[in-house]
This record gives sequence, C-alpha cells and structure tokens, in this order.
Amino acid sequence: MWSFHSECTSEVRLVGKTVVITGANTGIGKETARDLYRRGARIILACRNIQKANDALKDIKTNFPSKKDRKQFQGNPGDLVIYRLDLSSLKSVKECAKNLLTNESAIHLLINNAGVMMCPQETTEDGFELQLQTNYIGHFLLTLLLLPKMQSSGPGCRILNVSSLIHNYGAIHDDLNLKKSYTPFKAYAQSKLANILFTKELARRLKGANINGINVYSLHPGVITTELGRHFSTTIFPGASTFFRLLMQPVFKNSEQGAQTTIYCSVDEKAADETGLYYKECRVAIPQWRAQNDQIAKDLWNQTCRLLHLECDENFAKFLKTVSCQITE
Ligand SMILES: NC(=O)c1ccc[n+]([C@@H]2O[C@H](COP(=O)([O-])OP(=O)(O)OC[C@H]3O[C@@H](n4cnc5c(N)ncnc54)[C@H](OP(=O)(O)O)[C@@H]3O)[C@@H](O)[C@H]2O)c1
Repeated sequence: MWSFHSECTSEVRLVGKTVVITGANTGIGKETARDLYRRGARIILACRNIQKANDALKDIKTNFPSKKDRKQFQGNPGDLVIYRLDLSSLKSVKECAKNLLTNESAIHLLINNAGVMMCPQETTEDGFELQLQTNYIGHFLLTLLLLPKMQSSGPGCRILNVSSLIHNYGAIHDDLNLKKSYTPFKAYAQSKLANILFTKELARRLKGANINGINVYSLHPGVITTELGRHFSTTIFPGASTFFRLLMQPVFKNSEQGAQTTIYCSVDEKAADETGLYYKECRVAIPQWRAQNDQIAKDLWNQTCRLLHLECDENFAKFLKTVSCQITE
C-alpha cells in the first residue's frame, strides 16, 4: 500500500451540476465518477466501450467511496448517464459533442481523463498517431466544442486535463505524429506534455476573451494500478503488463487514491481562484520547463488548429464559432 497519498478533503456538494468524464468506465475516471456522483452531481460517463460503461454505472450506483460517512457523501446522489465517445475518431468526438449540446441543459465540469499509454504505433482513421489523438487532439476538439455550453452554464465551471509526471520526458516535435521517429514512450510523453500546454494556452485565451467563469487545470494523478499498462506486454516485453503490476503493486496507489487530485481540481474551494496551472498530490506543482513556456504553448495550439483545419483566429469568440461549425460538417 502506498505510504503517502494526499486526499481531497473538500466537503463541497454538487447538486444541480453536470459533469462530463471521459474514460469513466474504469480506473481513475470511474473512481472520480463515484465520488462526484455521491456529491449529488449528474455524471456523464463518456466512454467508447458501452458494455463496460454499463458495468461501471451499476458498480458506481451500488458502491460508495470507501469513506462513505464523509459529509460530502450525505444526501441524495446525483444521476449517471452514458454517452458514446471514441476519442480516436474525430467523427465520434463531434457526434458525442452534438449529443451533449442537444440533450444537456448545462455542463459545469469537463474532466478529460481518458488515455492510452505506450501502445504499438498506429494511425487513426483521421491520420493521427493514436496516443496523440486519444490523449490530446480528441480532448482538444471535444473541449472547444463544449465550451459555448460551459460558458452559458457558468460561473464556476472547470475543465481538467489529466496529464502525467511522464510529461517531464516529453517534447513537442515538429512532426507531432512521430511518423519517422515513433517510440511508444516518446509518443506518450509528448501527448502528456501537450495536455499541460493546452491547459496553459486555453486559460490564457479564456482570460484574453474576458471569459472568467471557466477555469482550467492539468494534473498528475500519481502512479496507480489501473488498466493503463495494458499495452506493455506488446511494446516492452511479453508479460510486462503483469510483471510491472505485481512488482509495483505495493507502492502503487489504488484507483480511489489516484482519483484524489482530479477530485481536488474539480471541487476544491481554494482551486476556484486558480487557472492554467498544473497539480499533483492535491496542490499546485511545477511542470518541466517546456510546459511553462508561453511560445511552445501557443505554437502547439496553432499546430493543432492546422491539423484540425481550424482557422486560428486570435479573436477567441470568433474562433469558437468556427469550431462549432465543424459539428455540422
Ligand atoms: N495509472 C497511472 O499510473 C497514471 C499515471 C499518470 C497519468 N495517468 C493518466 O490518467 C488517465 C486515466 O488513466 P487510468 O490509469 O485510469 O487508465 P485506464 O484504467 O486504462 O483507463 C483509461 C480510460 O480511457 C479510456 N479510453 C482509452 N482510449 C479511449 C478512446 N479512444 N476513447 C475513449 N476512451 C478511451 C479507456 O476506455 P476502455 O476501457 O474502453 O479502453 C478507460 O476508460 C490517463 O489519461 C492516464 O494517462 C495515469
């Protein structure tokens, strides 16, 4: 058992709030959903595997967080709903956003949690490297498509991007898709650095557009026993997924412990006055130098817009309108 892990102690209830969590059918996303559901929120499990999402929904409904007597879990729970979302398909991202915009009257919290790690080299149907699209580009587009709805749901809205300590080993490469220099680790590290840079640049653009009701956070959740290492046996050595899980189990966090920094950034009152920052162990942390660099953040934003065929207007409101048009294409 991990000897130290911080906990989100906020007693905030989320009655009347709607939360979208990507990749909420297992791991950290599922435990985040369990906590926020018991705080009274309407939770949207945005998942690609609907059977697994249904199983997760039943489990979340039946089982409380381990510290069920806490004040934040007293009172009625919220709702649980499933939407289909495959982040490795821009078509699916647009469809999911369209369904959310049509069916939900408000979105207060968007938790970009889904991720894949160190998978074999694969190109998506949209022509992007799989880890880049799943971890970063899919969330970039989803966020921008949902922003107008969040704007009308505010103030007090939050967007979270679940990154990783591994971002420390990442750089943003001219060839984002790493066509000629792919390694599973390099692609993962780049995608997780991109999560932090996106957070920083989005916060800057929101501020510049005087949109004050939406704060943006990125975070490292810790090192946790989840299904994230499912590709290790293919990309490191046969049996590596099991080997690392068994070897590291005693020092890994469990998923509930691993969800604490996500929950902190979602609800904590102190974090309400902060935006554009990176967190670990339920407090602000300093990411690597590239993640603090304004120019790298801006360049990545522009490069991503080019990949998505979005005209990168400095007028943010105008830019969001252009993005919204994508949904009808
Ligand atoms: N575990 C750690 O130690 C650790 C450390 C640092 C950062 N993180 C980050 O934490 C986040 C959650 O990871 P986890 O540890 O909870 O891993 P996990 O147990 O493998 O969960 C990942 C989730 O992402 C979903 N997902 C993967 N590809 C998707 C796609 N194309 N479209 C939609 N959903 C997709 C998975 O759905 P399926 O079940 O359908 O595949 C699953 O629900 C990730 O962003 C990861 O990078 C984890």
